Amino acid sequence: MGFPDKRMRRLRRTETLRRMVRETRLSVDNLIYPMFACPGNNVRTPIGAMPGQFQLSVDQIVKDAEVFVKDGVPAVILFGIPEKKDALGTEAFNDKAPVQQAVRALKKAFGHDLVVITDVCMCEYTDHGHCGMLDGHEVLNDATLELLAKEALSHVRAGADMVAPSDMMDGRIAFIRQELDEGGFENIPIMAYAAKQASVFYGPFREAAESAPKFGDRKSYQMDPANAREAMIEMALDEEEGADILMVKPAGSCLDLIRMARDEFDLPLAAYQVSGEYSMIKAAAERGWLDHDRAIMESLLAIRRAGADMILTYFAPHVAKLLGGR
Ligand code: PBG
Repeated sequence: MGFPDKRMRRLRRTETLRRMVRETRLSVDNLIYPMFACPGNNVRTPIGAMPGQFQLSVDQIVKDAEVFVKDGVPAVILFGIPEKKDALGTEAFNDKAPVQQAVRALKKAFGHDLVVITDVCMCEYTDHGHCGMLDGHEVLNDATLELLAKEALSHVRAGADMVAPSDMMDGRIAFIRQELDEGGFENIPIMAYAAKQASVFYGPFREAAESAPKFGDRKSYQMDPANAREAMIEMALDEEEGADILMVKPAGSCLDLIRMARDEFDLPLAAYQVSGEYSMIKAAAERGWLDHDRAIMESLLAIRRAGADMILTYFAPHVAKLLGGR
């Protein structure tokens, strides 16, 4: 036998061969598109730190959705920019606020062709920017659960197909599950932001959602990025409490956690390619330092290979075009 014996390059010679042995695929079915609903009509306010993304009034959300639903994107997740903010974030459960209106409009326009998920959290609605109710500078856990449940109920009453709590209070999945069941919404699934880190990569989002905390940071409720075993405990708790889908967030800096979660849990697994991951690729591509489309596809493929079934990504409409639909 001559050296080398094992020639790995034999199956890399042509694109057709490579296509046959490819282990991981990205499909438009895997994508969930995050959108920012704002008040008004005919509003498209560009988000400076996220080129190509906008705060959109309800009519514009429906207009954009006409394109990406046709291109096969199966789901959106909605964030809200309220008219006004207060200490308790009461606009979060105002049935006429932008998210609730966007839900109604999208369900009316697309019916079962689009799954409408809503992000359930207080930080976009509180004047202090924290994800829950305050006592001094302390974010209260159990009192916040009541607010979150009211918000989730308001979203599903508007017609949301799924709710996604992202606040990281303890016990919120069980609490929201019970409130939904009692409200007659036992068929509405919960996607839990289960392992959500206190990450620097949410920076651009806070401009998009106008939700930066006015003091301190989120480290007393979001996870320390150093901890992997703790992430698995968070996921086990959310599963026990009744989550239907588990999420790891961010995605790109947590590929190990995605793999661990895939190996440990059988629930569908989502990963959130967050604003900072989007903006890094955009910025590098704008400078000509990275190939825009290839960087997107490789980053998403890596998240799939790590084990995510679904990916929340701001690239969703663009990727749907690149993939050529379903
Ligand atoms: C709300 C929430 C945030 C994100 C999703 N839901 C911001 C935060 O926790 O500060 C971040 C999404 C992104 O960066 O794209 N709590």
